[in-house]
Amino acid sequence: MPATVATTITTTTAITTTTTPKPVDYKNECGVRPLMQKYGRIVGGKGATFGAWPWQVLVRESTWLGLFTKNKCGGVLLSNRYVVTAAHCQPGFLANLVAVMGEFDLSGELESKRSITRNVRRVVVHRGYDAATFANDLALLELESPVQFDEHVVPICLPRDNEDFTGRVATVTGWGRLKYGGGVPSVLQEVQVPVIDNSVCQEMFLTAGHQKQILSSFLCAGYANGQKDSCEGDSGGPLMLERPDGRWTLVGTVSHGIKCAAPYLPGVYMRTTYYKPWLKSITGIK
Ligand code: ARG
Repeated sequence: MPATVATTITTTTAITTTTTPKPVDYKNECGVRPLMQKYGRIVGGKGATFGAWPWQVLVRESTWLGLFTKNKCGGVLLSNRYVVTAAHCQPGFLANLVAVMGEFDLSGELESKRSITRNVRRVVVHRGYDAATFANDLALLELESPVQFDEHVVPICLPRDNEDFTGRVATVTGWGRLKYGGGVPSVLQEVQVPVIDNSVCQEMFLTAGHQKQILSSFLCAGYANGQKDSCEGDSGGPLMLERPDGRWTLVGTVSHGIKCAAPYLPGVYMRTTYYKPWLKSITGIK
C-alpha cells in the first residue's frame, strides 16, 4: 500500500469506519491489535477496552499448592512460550508463578473471550539483578506449554537495536494501584507518559531530593508535575509505542519509582533496547 494511503487511513476516522479493515495476521505478526477498530493504573489513566493490549500478561503467585493465589505483577508476552516481567516479581518461598494471557476484567468471567492460564515452568532472573538498586530488574518466565495466539492474545514486537524513544509519548498498562497507597482497579488501565532523557531524569530525581542513580539500562517516563504514572502492581508490564506501520513495540518494562505520579519522580523502566541481546539469548526471538 502506498504511504500516502496509509496516512489517510490512520488520520481520518470516517474512512476507517466505512472501509472493511485489512485482516490482521495475528498468528504471524507481533504487535498487532486484532480487536481494535483502528488498523486502520496506573495513576491518572483510564480503563482500557477488551483486547486493546493483547500482550499484557497478569502474573499471579500461588502458594500452598494453589490454595492461595494473588495478583502479583504485570508481564509482557514475547512469544508463544515466553513472558518478560520484573525480577522483583519472582516467587517467594514455596510459591509458584502463574501467567494469565488475554485477561481484562479481574472481577469475573464477563469478557467475550476467555483468558488463558499457564503455569510457569522456569523463571530466568537476570544474573545482574540487584534488589537494592533495581539494576537489571528483569526476569523471563517460560510457560509450561505454549499458548495459541488469538484476537486477544498476541505477542509484542521488540524495538530495533538502537531505536531511541526520547520525547515520544508512550503508553503503560496494568492492574496496579490507582494512586500511591490506594486501591486497585478491576479493569486493565492505560496511561500515556512521555519518555524522558536519562540525564534529565537524573536531574529530576535530584530536584525532588533523591540521590538515586539513573543507570543507562534504565528508561524514565512521566511528567515533571507527576499526575500520570505506573504504580505498585504494574511492575513487569509494558511501556510501549506504536510504530508508523501500526504495530506496537516494547520500549520498557515497569520496574520501580518513588511513590507514584509525584512531581519530579517519574516512573523507572527497564530499557528494552539495552536488554535485547539478553532477551534474544534466552527466548531465541529476533
Ligand atoms: N515496584 C512496583 C511494582 O512492584 C512498580 C512501581 C512503579 N512505580 C512508579 N512510580 N512508576 O509493581
